[in-house]
Amino acid sequence: MKKLSRLWILLIVLLVSVSLSGISQNRIIVRADQPGSKIDKAVYGHFAEHLGHCIYGGIFVGDKSEIPNINGFRTDVVGALKDLKVPLVRWPGGCFADTYHWKDGVGPKSERPSIVNVHWGGVTEDNSFGTHEFLNFCELIGADAYINLNVGSGTVQEASEWVEYVTSSNESPMTKLRKQNGREKPWNVRYWAVGNETWGCGGNMRPEYYADIYKQYATFMRAPGIYKIASGANVEDYKWTEVLMREATRQMSGLSVHYYTVPREWNKKGSATQFNDSVWFVTLQKTLKMEELVTKHSAVMDKYDPNKKVGLLVDEWGTWYDVEPGTNPGFLFQQNTLRDALVAGINLNIFNNHADRVRMSNIAQMINVLQSVILTKDKEMVLTPTYYVFKMYSVHQEAKMLPLEIKCNQYTSGTKSIDAINASASIKDGVVSITICNLDPFKSQDISFDIQGLSAASVTGKIVTANKINAYNDFGNKEEVSMADYKSAKLNKGSLEASIPAKSVVLIQLK
Ligand code: AHR
Repeated sequence: MKKLSRLWILLIVLLVSVSLSGISQNRIIVRADQPGSKIDKAVYGHFAEHLGHCIYGGIFVGDKSEIPNINGFRTDVVGALKDLKVPLVRWPGGCFADTYHWKDGVGPKSERPSIVNVHWGGVTEDNSFGTHEFLNFCELIGADAYINLNVGSGTVQEASEWVEYVTSSNESPMTKLRKQNGREKPWNVRYWAVGNETWGCGGNMRPEYYADIYKQYATFMRAPGIYKIASGANVEDYKWTEVLMREATRQMSGLSVHYYTVPREWNKKGSATQFNDSVWFVTLQKTLKMEELVTKHSAVMDKYDPNKKVGLLVDEWGTWYDVEPGTNPGFLFQQNTLRDALVAGINLNIFNNHADRVRMSNIAQMINVLQSVILTKDKEMVLTPTYYVFKMYSVHQEAKMLPLEIKCNQYTSGTKSIDAINASASIKDGVVSITICNLDPFKSQDISFDIQGLSAASVTGKIVTANKINAYNDFGNKEEVSMADYKSAKLNKGSLEASIPAKSVVLIQLK
């Protein structure tokens, strides 16, 4: 009897110490022997709208500006975006797209009309950044362009002529106009969307009505090989996906979906920088909804497109908080903390893991709006924690995703729990890259990896973390969050053990 109770005590002590240390609860099997779909580089895409200081001030300052620039494009921003290997930029909106008439933005600048940006602060839009400027900017940073056509207040003819103006090498009134405006050769623009949020700011349509409109526009978008994108669902509107797939699968290359991570309610979203650990938990819990959304929208698409020809494109995602105090509410300017780094890492892992269906994503938005990778103030520029996660994850672009089996500890806050670990992996040129987020802001996580199909000889790593959950990079101050070398992964006779610090995003590379 005595012996039995001693055994029990030993067992309990063992269980308690294992759960406190987190040891051996976490195990990840990486199937390097079963590479899956290629992770399209467009999954690492960005979104740049005529909103606040995204375009004007952020990307474009004009060639007369005192801020150093290349033909009007900020030299510092161009350099940072090139380093980031930005593969794709979506433009001109967003809600702005369905108010935009592209002919206002071509030709001599002095003759371009000014309009009111009705969605975003009612400010004057002088159209000095138009089609040529956008496409030249994409060429400068080495990114593909994705143009969003105007359906809400535009016409089929206007859309059809825009496609022709940009892509055609034939003789026609539109190509003649392009040449007059200084561009002899067409641009190679593959991605074109028919309207934005047509269930809302793009026209408040029913999916049945929009499906017909979509097919009409798609018929007159005449350019070989272009990728035609239908405006997709708001969050979990699976009916929208169902109707679009049922009615228009044959005319469509991609269907979008939009989901923003909002910690609280839409009318009181919460501060970007002032939050406690329970708001940190709720934010990450809400961002994990992306897994459910991608899975369920994909399942609807599978019914009509079992061979997965049509891409699911998350062409707007990211955090959405209250604007920074004292800034124009119509400009959606927010700071970006370590919490945003975790949000970025988690979402990008989800997209990698669904590479068979998710072919593009566009974080909203590139500069000075919502979850930006860059913030600018006059001459100054700041790289955000989200920037560093995108930089770290760029190794996944065009690599083949590797399936993972994850068994992990829970991260508990109050009565709610979520997985403490979120991860994805890929292989390119014989190098296995694993990106891991430790969502728990208090506990580090020790993980044992079983890498099947690779006998690795060396391991290297990078990490994005900080001392505080709300650490951020600000103008004029030393960076609080950046990317550093990570050295806590150890290879021992082919097996890999790693300790992932609390509240961090880590890249481990093996070869
Ligand atoms: O990104 C800000 C806005 O959010 C976009 O213009 C719109 O598409 C979405 O509702």
